[in-house]
Amino acid sequence: MASLSLKKVSSAWIITILTLFICAIVFGILMRLNQGNDIKLSPNGFYTLMTTHGLTMIGIWTVAGMVGIQYLLSRYTTVSAKLNVFALVLTIIGVIMLWISTFVGNFHTGWTFLYPFPFYIAWAKWATPLFLWSLAVLGIGWFVWSVGILVEILKKYSLKQAFAWQHLSKKDPEVTTPPFILIATVSLVGIILCLITAVILLILFFAEYYSNGSFKNDPLLMKNLTYFFGHTLANEALYLGVALLYELLPEVSGRPKFKMTWYIALAWNFTMIFVLTAFFHHMYMDFVQPLGFQMVGQLASYFASIPAAAVSALSVIFLVYGNKIKWSLTNILFFIGVIGWMIGGIGAVIDATISNNIVLHNTLWVPAHFHTYNAMGNVLFCLAFFWWVANEFAGSQETTKSHKITIGLMLIGGFGFVLMFYIAGAASVPRRFAFYPNELQIGMTTATWAAFFATLYLIAMLAIIWEIVRKCIRVFYSS
Ligand code: HEM
Repeated sequence: MASLSLKKVSSAWIITILTLFICAIVFGILMRLNQGNDIKLSPNGFYTLMTTHGLTMIGIWTVAGMVGIQYLLSRYTTVSAKLNVFALVLTIIGVIMLWISTFVGNFHTGWTFLYPFPFYIAWAKWATPLFLWSLAVLGIGWFVWSVGILVEILKKYSLKQAFAWQHLSKKDPEVTTPPFILIATVSLVGIILCLITAVILLILFFAEYYSNGSFKNDPLLMKNLTYFFGHTLANEALYLGVALLYELLPEVSGRPKFKMTWYIALAWNFTMIFVLTAFFHHMYMDFVQPLGFQMVGQLASYFASIPAAAVSALSVIFLVYGNKIKWSLTNILFFIGVIGWMIGGIGAVIDATISNNIVLHNTLWVPAHFHTYNAMGNVLFCLAFFWWVANEFAGSQETTKSHKITIGLMLIGGFGFVLMFYIAGAASVPRRFAFYPNELQIGMTTATWAAFFATLYLIAMLAIIWEIVRKCIRVFYSS
């Protein structure tokens, strides 16, 4: 069971994450208004917002999943609140350094800080090292935290059991692995590998920076490392959210817990391999990349989506279909999240097909698909957990309040916002343009509409977040 100190630190995390989330949504809306020609930001201002928005969003929704995993893990084994505090402190320091490098130093390479952009100084000179060091601080904090959580899992389950391999050979093994443990293990292993790659990447950046250019990096290697780290981290973050769903959805719906079966075990073990190799689809336009890797990229992108997504979607459909469900905001958010995840996943597979990618590469189709499975997928999975845990802190899961208006605003706002990206992407409007030339009128029109829909989404989020934060604050007064 969660200790009071774990509850307090989880509350502090939730309040921090949600505050940053609101700021990052506002940055997003400002970008869309600028692209719609409704406000005038300087190009530097736009790219500063884009860099801060992208990194903040990816970061907070990765740690949101880790907060949930560690909290729910306390049902199975003892967990360390101190480890959690350590990660929170380093995260706050890292975010402050990052925001100073972007907002004060004007660093604006985009969230992928693709080599050699950080060395083409178009900002304060000190901003490049500060930016790289901010990532080092965040990376160290999250690496120690994710290894720590994995060790906590291994205190109760052997490595074989954590991966549920005993379910592949026996129908009723002595020790059964809860799906939550398997998915958390698979995702944490992926996150640890991403973070090790990030450390290698940063060492290479620092080597070139501090050698004053006498050491030069290989751009293709740097791009492969960057996308192995960035693409995989964004995907693993989503799977942390799915682990929360497996643990909580049946419980809050008044249904029996999901049981481990051989096909769930197989699906998630395969997912681990495919997700780690799908990033090659970011390299399709790098013609010097060996052809074999490009083929791996396409196949892994297909296969990655089948096991986890198909198995999870079917599990959720079987849970809901024909059964009397106790609906609450928690399972509604999980349910909508699965729909967003599926739609975003289909958008991703379309783009990862090489013949389509020739047309869609670096168009707004790219932010279309990843915003769908983030803003309408993983964010909702984590919010469902936040809502559930805030009610647990408040001492009751029973809320008679209807959230019809909030959910309506979130659905119209969220799906409307991503639809504008899809329409513009299908019309070949490029991504990462601060403003569009007159020939791309459709880019401007869709951007203005997107800003409107995103504002509806923001209002819905504010309504949900207000209630969550109010309940989380109460934990600090309990003893
Ligand atoms: C309603 C909420 C949001 C709004 C209004 C918004 C808006 C935007 C805009 C306008 C861009 C630039 C698109 C382009 O022209 O390339 C962008 C990029 C991005 N967004 Fe969002 N976004 C939102 C939510 C999210 C969420 C929830 C996540 C992740 C969990 C996210 C992650 C990113 C990332 C990684 C980028 C790419 C940044 C880059 O290219 O360097 N966004 N967003």
